[in-house]
Amino acid sequence: MNILFRDSHDTNTTRLIARIVAQDSLPADLPRAVKEGAESSRFSGKAGQLFEGFYEADGAVVRLALAGAGKADAADRSAALEKAGAALSAKYLTSGETALALDAAASGLSAEETASVLLGARLRGWRWDEYRTKLRDEQKKSLAEIVVVGAPSGTDTAWADSEAVAKGVELTRELVSEPPNIIYPESFVARCRERYEGTGLTVRVLDEAEMASLGMGALLGVSQGSVREGQLLVVEWKGGGNEAPTVFVGKGVTFDTGGISLKPPAGMEDMKWDMGGAGAVAGAMLAIAGRKAKANIVGVCGLVENMPDGNAQRPGDIVTTMSGQTVEVINTDAEGRLVLCDALTWVQQEFSPKTVVDFATLTGAMIISLGNEHGGVFANDDALAEKLLSAGKASGDKLWRFPLSPEYDKLIDSPIADMKNVGPRGAGSITAAQFLQRYIEDGVAWAHCDIAGMVWADKPGATWDKGATGYGTRLIDSFVRDSVEG
Ligand code: BES
Ligand code: MN
Ligand code: ZN
Repeated sequence: MNILFRDSHDTNTTRLIARIVAQDSLPADLPRAVKEGAESSRFSGKAGQLFEGFYEADGAVVRLALAGAGKADAADRSAALEKAGAALSAKYLTSGETALALDAAASGLSAEETASVLLGARLRGWRWDEYRTKLRDEQKKSLAEIVVVGAPSGTDTAWADSEAVAKGVELTRELVSEPPNIIYPESFVARCRERYEGTGLTVRVLDEAEMASLGMGALLGVSQGSVREGQLLVVEWKGGGNEAPTVFVGKGVTFDTGGISLKPPAGMEDMKWDMGGAGAVAGAMLAIAGRKAKANIVGVCGLVENMPDGNAQRPGDIVTTMSGQTVEVINTDAEGRLVLCDALTWVQQEFSPKTVVDFATLTGAMIISLGNEHGGVFANDDALAEKLLSAGKASGDKLWRFPLSPEYDKLIDSPIADMKNVGPRGAGSITAAQFLQRYIEDGVAWAHCDIAGMVWADKPGATWDKGATGYGTRLIDSFVRDSVEG
């Protein structure tokens, strides 16, 4: 969706006009038909509520949409404005209209408020129709352009910032939406390289031979059952002078069959999005570079495919991780932690970061705990946890904190190796986090976000259609904005 800015409105080119209205205060200057129509349809202007009316002006019919932005003094004002923009996209995306004029002047919006509406519209207007060759006309996306009319000065810079975020979320969604025969470790890397061109991001990749010489036996153990070559993708943004970087690590299992501990067939296709953590990290790096963040940020994606095969790892295998610690692989379906542990060791050795945050679709147990409303966050540092929780609130990618403790940690002790890769049935998300914590060095502030319930949606949400939500990208971007650049 393209966003254009104009001083005045031209009814010859755009018949569809939108105004953003606050709750319980219909503007007095609305055309009578629209005003009475809105009143008689119980339109109150709640966030995301929409009313459409028609009136005649200068011999032409104007289609006027009122999008509710909630109470003007609400604490979640920017989220409400995003919802208003999103409601417009959802309604007109396949309506046949190709352009929508957003009357920013009549809506009385500031530059930042206008950018929020546009961000909501842009995000909700994203669809991945790449493989749908037989869409009927009325199913095809028609809305291609939003013309912002009479926006206050500064809207273009505010929008440039939001657009960088939108592009990041879109990359995340694209990576998550693509099928697993198209996105596998090497093609994930290639897609990122393509999108990062000209952004100032630098990309480095460790292949399996390099990972083997570094001793990443856990990551490689997962990858060994696949004909696809595993990759460690390393993306760097240097916008912050000489300070140690903040590092984000993503689980990128491009398909998780479970391996020899094979998953049941029903719903296995969902495991194409088991790279959602890596997708969030990859998209966030694009956002961070796009808005030229004043910080040093590294994004690392551990990319593998978890397949059953004659060469696949077996339950009972013992692998030696890069840290030197050994792991008894009880269940080959608990592969995410095996990928992450080596990636976590490597980033600490390579970058000596003060802060490391990982993102992973790590456990089904997290979906049992929190459903699809919050990601779970675990942290060895209260200040870091607080910052992530507030970034969650600010971005709409909400988090909820879970505990870590020695009692949970001992549940993954193994009689034959340093640890096993699964604990008992209870507290499955926590024992997974305890496993990761065993790879964190003293003095490093670390958090783990289990986002299994968040990267894919069965129904449309505030600013996404069903499918890939893009969760995590804005969370990382907000965290960097408020707590690293801050
Ligand atoms: N990728 C899955 C977790 C998952 C499940 C994410 C459903 C999203 C939706 C992970 O690799 C996995 O299989 N975890 C196992 C761990 C168990 C074997 C200890 C799980 O959650 O069942
Ligand atoms: Mn698994
Ligand atoms: Zn997995």
